[in-house]
Amino acid sequence: MLDLLVSNASLPDGRTGMSVAVRDGRICEVTPGLQAPAHEQLDAQGGLLSPPFVDAHFHLDSALTYGQPRVNQSGTLLEGIALWGELKPQLTIDAIIERALHYCDWAVARGLLAIRSHVDTSQPELLTVQALLEVQRRVAPYLDLQLVAFPQDGLLRAPGGLDNLRRALDMGVDVVGGIPHFERTQAQGAESIRLLCELAAAQGRRVDMHCDESDDPHSRHVETLAFETQRLGLQGRVTGSHLTSLHSMDNDYASKLIALMAEAELGVVANPLINITLQGRHDSYPKRRGMTRVPELLAAGLCVAFGQDCVLDPWYSLGSADMLEVAHMGLHVAQMTSQQAMRQCFDAITRQPAQLLGLQGYGLQAGCHADFVLLQARHPAEAIRLRATRLAVYRRGRRIASSTPAQSQLELAQRPASVHFFDAG
Ligand code: FE2
Repeated sequence: MLDLLVSNASLPDGRTGMSVAVRDGRICEVTPGLQAPAHEQLDAQGGLLSPPFVDAHFHLDSALTYGQPRVNQSGTLLEGIALWGELKPQLTIDAIIERALHYCDWAVARGLLAIRSHVDTSQPELLTVQALLEVQRRVAPYLDLQLVAFPQDGLLRAPGGLDNLRRALDMGVDVVGGIPHFERTQAQGAESIRLLCELAAAQGRRVDMHCDESDDPHSRHVETLAFETQRLGLQGRVTGSHLTSLHSMDNDYASKLIALMAEAELGVVANPLINITLQGRHDSYPKRRGMTRVPELLAAGLCVAFGQDCVLDPWYSLGSADMLEVAHMGLHVAQMTSQQAMRQCFDAITRQPAQLLGLQGYGLQAGCHADFVLLQARHPAEAIRLRATRLAVYRRGRRIASSTPAQSQLELAQRPASVHFFDAG
């Protein structure tokens, strides 16, 4: 007897009419048209069954603080950092936990079941770290929360930066972070990358660094990150986040840099919603779009994910844990409109970030965890186009969230009809 049998599902790889059988929290069979007794039967009615969404880049400690103590007037990264600095002395562990749990509720409802969150380690008290470790423990039954020690005020620029970051790792934070473009000089930025990568290599940890998050075409920290990754044998374990300067670099240098990144097997996270709003703020017209070169990085064989980055915080005044909204923006900014590119955008919020996080048992093959989301759409491009309703969300074979289908009723005398927005045909 199966625990759960999902039937008539479409899968992201294009197969239709598929059954997914679940026993003991794991997928035990994926095959067309299976009929078998099960405690729960779910007819997907042709809907898209996807592995859960994964957010490779988020800031859970600042999420949902919008307006505290004031709103970012210039819209820049730097005013956001200053604003967060004003708020930090007022933070309490309980308030951070409450906001973070609230956000995780949104995430689950949206089928987002794994988040890599940076946690600010700049304050010696490490309240943010204490709070997010507690959140990590509480949400573990239903959401994988991976934490990155993030020296927001600079590893070398802020007093005690390295010591605070080390203590955060000792307390249980998983991944080594950094912010080289915010250090005082290019040389100090490079030094911070060397120190952090050596620390990660010594402790067997992954690295995920905010890197070259600026419009400065001469910022060179991605190059250093690729170099240190290769020097220390960290290939496949290091991610560069944002990399917005790549947007502004000249094509000649970018072609060299992307090859170096591929040699180092760097992971890449673009954050479309935030990059499109924070970057280019010092431009008149034309305004640079500021997102890194996603199609070119994919073409070079790099693992590229889209992240949410911020929701209702000093840097971004919108957002709702909706990774399909993130992919929708990424698709537009990168002009990834071909059928294949739209599929890649869907992969950038599912398979690719799962690889960057090193998630075990992720996917829709036999043996994987029975974690998935049923979408009110029939294929990945349609899911992105509609930011499709998450009809049902499953974790280890158990339903943990559901939503009513989106449907409108026309009240026209001439054309009474209920309307959904599926592709024709
Ligand atoms: Fe970030």
